Amino acid sequence: MNDALLDFAVDAPRHLQVACTIERGTRTDAGDLSAFAARTYLDTYAHYARPEKLHRHVDAAFAPVRQAEELADPHTATLLARRGCLAAFAQVRRSDAPPCVDGAFPVELHRFYVDRCWHGRGVSQQLLAEVRRAATALGGATLWLKVWEHNARAIAFYRKSGFVDVGVSDFFLHDDRLTDRVLVTSLASPLPFPRPAGTAPCSRS
Ligand SMILES: CC(C)(COP(=O)(O)OP(=O)(O)OC[C@H]1O[C@@H](n2cnc3c(N)ncnc32)[C@H](O)[C@@H]1OP(=O)(O)O)[C@@H](O)C(=O)NCCC(=O)NCCS
Repeated sequence: MNDALLDFAVDAPRHLQVACTIERGTRTDAGDLSAFAARTYLDTYAHYARPEKLHRHVDAAFAPVRQAEELADPHTATLLARRGCLAAFAQVRRSDAPPCVDGAFPVELHRFYVDRCWHGRGVSQQLLAEVRRAATALGGATLWLKVWEHNARAIAFYRKSGFVDVGVSDFFLHDDRLTDRVLVTSLASPLPFPRPAGTAPCSRS
């Protein structure tokens, strides 16, 4: 992010909603996405886990070569939200759902990360609307996700976005067993909020 944009983002009142462009990522985005994903992941969990365990996970999950593979995977849609530079990303994929997900044609919201300076500015709502379109395009009727049980902000966001809690699932951060909540929403039901006031439609994936 350039300095002028960063100043604006940090100084802007929390209620100010912003518009972003959202596009489907391609292999050429692997380097940018890898750096952005690693930074936002560490920013989210740095206070909760030992740094060496986090870095081991980040090195494996967000290596540029791994992101290039995921960007090229026809069963995964990677969405990149930009305001000049990357502001957020999401990955939606066909995968095996845990038994507690009993909705028809489940598609997973695998990753959903917004840069901290854009939290509370409507970027997450715009990205989620595109996630739902991408999940439907992958053949989904149900959208499900796993979220760490102590990630209170994310759980609050998903709940107000229409997700309901249907159970738990283990997540292993190296040798630490953590508990994720499993949340589900129907892609047939509309998003429970309108486009944030003052924002323009995003470009489509
Ligand atoms: C999760 C995330 C996408 C949500 O986007 P966002 O723009 O921050 O979401 P919003 O501000 O619209 O909504 C968050 C809600 O949580 C509330 N909230 C904030 N901190 C909270 C806390 N500690 N406990 C409970 N609720 C909290 C906010 O008040 C807001 O509710 P409101 O709109 O009713 O006031 C974003 O915060 C993010 O990217 N976080 C880091 C990455 C992450 O955790 N991703 C999810 C991985 S599964």
